[in-house]
Amino acid sequence: MTSSLSYSSLVVYFVILMMVLRSGSLYANGCYKSIISFGDSLADTGSQEELSHITDQLYQCLLSPYGETFFHKPTGRCSNGRLIIDFLAESLGLPMIQPFLHNKKTIDDRAVTFRQGVNYAVAGATALNSSFIEAEWPERSVINASLEVQLTWFKESLPSICGNTSDCKSFIKSSLILMGEIGGNDYSFPLFAGKSIDEFKQYVPLVTDTIISTVNELIEMGAQTLVVPGNFPIGCSSSYLTVRASDYEEYDPTTGCLVSLNEFAEYHNNMLQKKLNMIRELHPDVNLIYADYYNAAMQFYRSPNAFGFTNGALKACCGAGGPFNYNVTVRCGGESTTMCDQPDTYVNWDGVHLTEMAYKLIFESIFQGSYTTPQFNSLCLTSASQVGARLSSLM
Ligand SMILES: *[C@@H]1O[C@H](CO)[C@@H](O)[C@H](O)[C@H]1NC(C)=O
Ligand SMILES: *[C@@H]1O[C@H](CO)[C@@H](O)[C@H](O)[C@H]1NC(C)=O
Ligand SMILES: *[C@@H]1O[C@H](CO)[C@@H](O)[C@H](O)[C@H]1NC(C)=O
Ligand SMILES: *[C@@H]1O[C@H](CO)[C@@H](O)[C@H](O)[C@H]1NC(C)=O
Repeated sequence: MTSSLSYSSLVVYFVILMMVLRSGSLYANGCYKSIISFGDSLADTGSQEELSHITDQLYQCLLSPYGETFFHKPTGRCSNGRLIIDFLAESLGLPMIQPFLHNKKTIDDRAVTFRQGVNYAVAGATALNSSFIEAEWPERSVINASLEVQLTWFKESLPSICGNTSDCKSFIKSSLILMGEIGGNDYSFPLFAGKSIDEFKQYVPLVTDTIISTVNELIEMGAQTLVVPGNFPIGCSSSYLTVRASDYEEYDPTTGCLVSLNEFAEYHNNMLQKKLNMIRELHPDVNLIYADYYNAAMQFYRSPNAFGFTNGALKACCGAGGPFNYNVTVRCGGESTTMCDQPDTYVNWDGVHLTEMAYKLIFESIFQGSYTTPQFNSLCLTSASQVGARLSSLM
């Protein structure tokens, strides 16, 4: 009797232990000392500021009223305030993540700052390399800051940031790697060129393969936690609603978004997730987290009022008029464009990018909510960091 009781309590103990261990592999455990970020304007925290000193191109996100709500001046962020990555850094107790591209200071000057986070994301960047994009779309220019170039910058800057090989390995291992969003710009070329969905579906395997091979390379270098966001519901983008509406006439009656473009974004996201699953099988010890930007944002398009977006989700806050306050020739920051009075009541900032409030709510849905696969461990975010420390010491 006694022995069977102790046997069953042993079984219970073992089951609990297995659950704890299992959750350890399912959930991102431990906290992060740094954020290493790759991507485009959704994550760029100021590289345009630096680029503006070395090229004579006009960078839209450096114009007023960009940055107006939070920074009270343009910072190169393509919004009226902070981005998802800014909220993430704050919640992890890290300083705002500095752009890697810098005009005046050398890498060595900034190496100490970069230990807590370094951002290789550049507005306008594509997943596919610029020679490929330029060959496909010779009439349009693209910035030479593709994922491959960003990864090269990362490798080249490592010796300054973390010294020797073992030190660098632990730097990468203890960092949260934010891989995107990237790929949205790749599709903007065929989209603005008026191609059919079927014509640009052919780029999805290439784009997702490029993201996946970068993820693989980072894992080889010791990455332990990677967050890979999918694409936004681009059929709800004011720019595409303005430019391509006559081609893709079918609107979703509950959101007003273009059905076929949203299906295309889901097509990209599904392929990306399938490929992420394959890496997870090869590297079960790595926390490879898919961030569902698509459905996190769809919440707003479905019921904007529930989130305080009383001016709706489709019309841009900053623009030069038109049905969605987006005009492809006169964009936010340009002459005769105006900014709305209450940006927090809009999802869309400038027709392409979202408002600070939308990014804040997406951050919460992703990193504190349920819009990730597997679930992101929100125990690491400041309010509960002690619980997080306890959990990781238990493992
Ligand atoms: C650019 O990408 C294409 C397609 O993935 C590839 O064939 C080509 O070798 C790449 N070029 C460079 C310079 O990396
Ligand atoms: C893009 O930049 C990379 C790295 O700086 C360089 O090696 C490459 O030649 C550049 N490509 C083009 C097409 O300018
Ligand atoms: C690498 O650098 C760290 C700290 O900078 C040092 O403690 C460690 O001994 C170094 N390891 C090797 C193999 O040089
Ligand atoms: C965009 O702005 C231009 C120049 O002001 C104007 O001619 C055009 O009609 C506008 N387009 C839309 C869709 O409002």
